[in-house]
Amino acid sequence: MSTSKNLITIIANWKMNPGSFKEADNLIKNIKNGIKKSENVNVVICPPAVYLSKIKTNAKFELGIQNIFWENRGAYTGEISAKMAKNLGASYVIIGHSERRIYLRETDEMINLKIKSALENNLVSILCIGETLDEKKKDKTSEVIVGQLEKALNNISSFQFPVSSFQIAYEPIWAIGTGITPAVDEIMGVALLIRKVIAKLYNRETAEKISILYGGSVDSGNAYDFVRKANTNGLLIGGTSLNASEFARIAGLFG
Ligand code: PGA
Repeated sequence: MSTSKNLITIIANWKMNPGSFKEADNLIKNIKNGIKKSENVNVVICPPAVYLSKIKTNAKFELGIQNIFWENRGAYTGEISAKMAKNLGASYVIIGHSERRIYLRETDEMINLKIKSALENNLVSILCIGETLDEKKKDKTSEVIVGQLEKALNNISSFQFPVSSFQIAYEPIWAIGTGITPAVDEIMGVALLIRKVIAKLYNRETAEKISILYGGSVDSGNAYDFVRKANTNGLLIGGTSLNASEFARIAGLFG
């Protein structure tokens, strides 16, 4: 892990795919063969948690988990803690993905607790934020982004907030899995807004250094612009990350 300004992070969010470990193993083999080791690109694969311990990382990629619970252990049926994820080999955790906010009723308060637990357990948080289509149409994107960020980071001091332990993924909900994407300027505008909020909550240095990713219908045709033209630090990739050659092609654009 590095905080170098030029380091691009490419994250695969496999969501609840593929359906068997055999397929997952195959996918990993093909990704391993397809991607190059690069000092400029940090590739992170987030498989379903049940596959995590069976996937061996190498110098080409790291592992992440798609969710954690906020306590380290206890009577929380079905949950997995940050500590457990870390012990299984995860270095990253996706927090507050819109699918969890929608289907699992995850609130900003829960997201805040999860970030605190990730920080305590030395997992890098990938905080997902983004507006719905309805909010966008009502011109509420900025309000939503500021609100989600402020609530997610509530009571987390700059002392507890090393910039290398935190990344923010702007994922407009209307762009996820739809094939519809924002204009480069829109992504750039939200990334700037995120840096402004971070500067206000922490300081300018943190705001400049923090990694901001874009996610939502990324493919090998639009990936380059979403990083280089929109001036982001990487991508969070869902559907396309299940296609090893396409995913490797995207990582290769920056290596
Ligand atoms: P998508 O998903 O690339 O399939 O749009 C992105 C995400 O939900 O993280």
